[in-house]
Amino acid sequence: MKLLYAPASPFVRKVLVFIKELGLEDKVELVKVSTTVLDQNAELAACNPVTKIPTLVMDNGKSLYDSRVITAYLDSLVASPSFYAADGDARWDVLAMEALADGMMDAAVNARYERGLRPAEKQWDDWVDGQVKKVHGALKAFDAAASSFGDRIDAGIVGAACACGYLDFRYPDIGWREDYPALGTWYAKFSERKSMQETQASS
Ligand code: BEZ
Repeated sequence: MKLLYAPASPFVRKVLVFIKELGLEDKVELVKVSTTVLDQNAELAACNPVTKIPTLVMDNGKSLYDSRVITAYLDSLVASPSFYAADGDARWDVLAMEALADGMMDAAVNARYERGLRPAEKQWDDWVDGQVKKVHGALKAFDAAASSFGDRIDAGIVGAACACGYLDFRYPDIGWREDYPALGTWYAKFSERKSMQETQASS
């Protein structure tokens, strides 16, 4: 398999953490690509018509995207561990948590793009504030649940960790741990995992 990726993306990080935690490193070739909506990478476009990372090219040549489809596919490749509960309420809880984490990443990445890609005179402060409000909405929900996370690891947990990690990476001044202490305590421990340490973006 081939993963088209950019290390700064929190969605990519979620997939990389899955690959490491599921023991699939030997099965996935990592292909770094640089792409923006203004300069869309041709190799990526050939595999994914909407040129988004992460994109996984399977051994049969077909592509999978977005990150939630990729994580579900990777999970299906190994008998254990499984990062999706098999059925019942637990399954929907995990899926909803992964979606919440992805929503937090979306909002944080959108705000970053607005500030980083748009010409200053075209930037819309209220829109950025709205994205930041979404980030806080997710942080509040995760914080309320964090005391029950324990040592759990599943798609929702990995997503939440990668979303928090992205804030530390791109928004170091946001100081989220002060307002969401239970989440901060859980994250401090979870982020010590080898899979998290080895996937930290630096630029
Ligand atoms: C970033 O540089 O923050 C970034 C890069 C790719 C995807 C998402 C975010």
